[in-house]
Amino acid sequence: MIDKYLNFIRCVSIKWYGKLGVIITTSSFITMVLLEFFRIVGSLTNAYIGLITYMVLPLMFMSGLALIALGWYTLKKETGQNIQELLASQFSEGDIKSGVYGSRILKTIGIFSLINVIFLSAIFLNMFTFMDEAEFCGTACHSVMNPEWVTYKQSPHSRVNCVECHVGEGMDALVSSKMNGIWQMVSVTFDLLERPIPTPVNQLRPARETCEKCHWPEKFYGNKLKSIVSYASDSNSTVAYTTLNMKIDAERTSGKAGIHWHIAKENEVHYAYADEKRTKIIWAEAKQPDGSFIRYHNSQYADSEVIESRSMDCVDCHNRATHIYEDPEKAIDVRIRKGLMSRELPFLKREALGAILSGYADNKAAMAGIENHMYHFYRTNYPKLVISKMREIDAAVSTLRDIYNRNIHHEMKIEWGSYPSHIGHANETNGCFRCHNSNFKSDDNKSIGYDCTLCHSILAEEQDQPFKFLLMPDTLDPNYEMHKYLQQEFINSYIE
Ligand code: HEC
Ligand code: HEC
Ligand code: HEC
Ligand code: HEC
Ligand code: HEC
Repeated sequence: MIDKYLNFIRCVSIKWYGKLGVIITTSSFITMVLLEFFRIVGSLTNAYIGLITYMVLPLMFMSGLALIALGWYTLKKETGQNIQELLASQFSEGDIKSGVYGSRILKTIGIFSLINVIFLSAIFLNMFTFMDEAEFCGTACHSVMNPEWVTYKQSPHSRVNCVECHVGEGMDALVSSKMNGIWQMVSVTFDLLERPIPTPVNQLRPARETCEKCHWPEKFYGNKLKSIVSYASDSNSTVAYTTLNMKIDAERTSGKAGIHWHIAKENEVHYAYADEKRTKIIWAEAKQPDGSFIRYHNSQYADSEVIESRSMDCVDCHNRATHIYEDPEKAIDVRIRKGLMSRELPFLKREALGAILSGYADNKAAMAGIENHMYHFYRTNYPKLVISKMREIDAAVSTLRDIYNRNIHHEMKIEWGSYPSHIGHANETNGCFRCHNSNFKSDDNKSIGYDCTLCHSILAEEQDQPFKFLLMPDTLDPNYEMHKYLQQEFINSYIE
């Protein structure tokens, strides 16, 4: 059997490149089978191995086959013989003698072709499933996708595959994403990629076809209590509470609309912008019950500055639904709250912030710099503490290193604030206040609401108590009127 195979191989390989083709095809076939076996039994899980099994080796396999064909083609050109004569010149008489089901050589070629077709189809099928796995998207081009992978792993969507948001369903989505993927491979290989990767991502599928598969608008109703704990930069890192009751309704209940009103079935909001980042909004328009639109113009810009307009969807607010980069101060607050860093260390908040905000050349320098910063501060100012609270200082150092590694990616030029979130209103250029501000006016002088309680009731804003405004207001407090107002607003917001 082996002899027969070897003989066939000898006869089939014509010219030196034909022989090379046979070697490439055979060796890539064997390697593929072995790697696939180890993948199935689970001893190989690395995405690079997948990349090799499903992309590099099949390509080699096919180019080997092409080389063999090329050998035959050149021979045919050189000798001018037809197929029968060519076969006769390469194989023995017994091989080419025609039997009941064709000659032996035809049968062998037929069987080999069939094996090739079955084998390649199986590989391609596997390739598509493999490429849909988050593991592949997130780790195959390691340095480029590392920031997205790291943020994804720690997000509420860490079990949703990349393709569910980035590709969506349907053949056209699949084809266009694969074409795009080929371009991405080329740009990664030749380092043509912009760093950081520019956002917003223009090729994202409409949210209706992705996000709404899992979160449909009718599902949003009522309120969501949001409690934010923060720490001051004093020696105790004093705690403060902000509590918001987010009005996340989609429906207009008793005349009041909630935050998801923009994407409720019967509503539509369009807007036009002056910059690629979609932060300079020129006009926004909202559909009315009669089907017409009210358009609000931003007095800061002229209509001629419009570069594009679009329908508002989920990602205009939830641009950081998965790749969530933290605000440095909030990152520290959350870790203190979780007990990962101890407020028994004086000026913990202030020093921790200083440690992660110092400019570092790369992640390695940052790891050393963070440790130096913390130890330098405590050694200089609280020498005794360095011994008695060494465990706490070490815990703070390692927590701060984690924060740094999660959020800062020098190789992709991602720094603090590279990818701001549009949820909320951290500043004028991001989030809700891009449209909800006093510059927007319709022709009949209506404005887009920007009242502080339009989107959330406020139950505490940096207070010593998480539900400060629900407590009895103190008539002597300078904030008495505001306190009373916010308390009433919250209570009334629940009354039909
Ligand atoms: C729940 C949906 C969702 C999942 C799952 C998801 N992404 Fe994203 N991704 C987004 C959205 C939305 C944006 C657009 C951000 C913008 O336009 O500002 C984005 C942006 C990106 C960007 C551009 C850079 C950036 O950080 O904004 C890259 C690259 C990316 N995703 C890769 C991935 C990879 C790789 C995975 C899987 C490991 C993944 N995504 C999983 C929703 C998702
Ligand atoms: C395949 C299903 C799926 C898709 C597609 C999906 N999500 Fe999610 N989403 C989830 C799951 C599961 C959770 C976690 C729910 C939980 O923790 O209670 C979640 C949570 C969220 C949350 C809440 C996060 C939090 O802090 O509680 C937001 C916001 C969100 N998704 C927005 C989006 C957006 C925007 C998109 C489209 C870009 C999207 N999702 C696409 C399944 C999905
Ligand atoms: C106008 C901006 C905006 C738009 C558009 C928007 N959202 Fe939200 N969404 C918010 C805000 C603000 C919250 C409350 C966030 C918080 O504080 O947790 C929220 C909360 C959520 C939550 C968490 C709800 C819960 O009960 O915890 C999910 C899930 C979500 N949005 C998904 C979506 C999806 C899917 C879409 C598109 C169909 C969408 N959102 C469109 C602003 C928006
Ligand atoms: C692209 C512009 C734009 C952005 C960004 C935007 N909105 Fe809006 N929003 C509108 C428009 C337009 C209306 C409709 C105003 C009207 O006609 O009453 C609206 C209406 C609302 C309403 C309902 C008010 C009412 O009673 O009609 C709420 C609540 C709201 N937005 C919350 C938010 C929140 C929260 C964010 C940020 C997470 C946000 N919006 C971001 C354009 C925007
Ligand atoms: C158009 C809707 C909207 C309006 C108007 C609005 N907010 Fe907000 N606000 C939000 C959203 C959305 C968040 C983000 C909640 C989150 O973190 O998920 C937020 C967050 C906050 C926070 C918490 C910030 C933090 O530390 O994370 C405070 C405090 C706040 N708002 C106060 C105000 C005040 C005061 C006003 C009036 C000047 C106001 N808001 C007007 C939508 C709005």
